[in-house]
Amino acid sequence: MARKKIVLVGAGQIGGTMALVLAQKQLGDVVLIDIPQTEGMPKGKALDIMEGRGVMGTSCNLTGSTDYADIAGADVVIVTAGVPRKPGMSRDDLLGINCGVIKTVGEAIKKTAPNAFVIVITNPLDAMVYNMQKVTGFPSNKVVGMAGVLDSSRLACFVAMELGVSAEDVKALVMGGHGDTMVSLYECVSVGGIPLPQLMSKEKFDELAARTANAGGEIVSLLVRGSAFYSPATSAIKMAEAYLLDKKSVLTCAVKLDGEYGVKGLYCGVPCVIGENGVEKIFEVKMNAAEKAAFDKSVEACKKNADWVDANA
Ligand code: APR
Repeated sequence: MARKKIVLVGAGQIGGTMALVLAQKQLGDVVLIDIPQTEGMPKGKALDIMEGRGVMGTSCNLTGSTDYADIAGADVVIVTAGVPRKPGMSRDDLLGINCGVIKTVGEAIKKTAPNAFVIVITNPLDAMVYNMQKVTGFPSNKVVGMAGVLDSSRLACFVAMELGVSAEDVKALVMGGHGDTMVSLYECVSVGGIPLPQLMSKEKFDELAARTANAGGEIVSLLVRGSAFYSPATSAIKMAEAYLLDKKSVLTCAVKLDGEYGVKGLYCGVPCVIGENGVEKIFEVKMNAAEKAAFDKSVEACKKNADWVDANA
């Protein structure tokens, strides 16, 4: 059986980290693609990881390129192409510039990799994945955005730190848009199977939920020269792995809603099943009135950016 081809468009901080993780997990051969101005950078990163394969015990091949033609035949394409935030910027400040980047990349994917599963990471996420699906015209089950996996992982991390338990035993659910309006669900967090309300007050949870909504900004203000990249990279690889290994993983992803949650034709973060057919199922979570109101507000924020894409892209 031929090895899978995984193309990473954008070979920057997230792209480079994903290449390393993909090689370690032996999920397929990796192609790192960036713009010609970066010169040898994608080739250099690919070669650097190649040279460590003996130590890592992996046999995947990695190549770097500045030519979109090398997207051809990809099984999975993960897109980080664009610019990240600087301190003081919101994700929405990137809308104009990154929209154009997604259009260029989307047209190349459409032309050369018509069967690919496309995962978008570029911010502002919900609008960029909306634009990607529009530009490629691919079925919406094959175009998803990475956000909820990361936001849920961040909340789980904060809960685990607060309780002094292992992060891998905490499962959390953060829904809605990938921005200030994201919604953390108190009763959907479990700690080794124990519902969180049995272990933590709502007041404390609300503090952790607020930190989660600002977690990306917290990293930006610490890094100064870029935004988070390790945890976004591993979150996207979790989604790619679910698809490539047909795991039927339940992951919160930005998916195109078709009437679920009373929303139609808009990308927004909700729990779904990812397997060999991409998004195979969307779960509708029961929310209380306050959570539903917060979710609706988040959907409105996604709609505002999607309308901008429709009007300007
Ligand atoms: N085609 C291919 N690559 C591109 C293009 C393009 N049209 N435009 C920009 N790039 C490349 C840049 O040259 C850069 O190497 O995308 C890469 C982005 O990498 P970084 O600047 O290191 O950003 P990163 O931290 O990886 O984040 C990428 O993900 O989380 C989001 O907000 C973040 O939108 C940002 C994206």
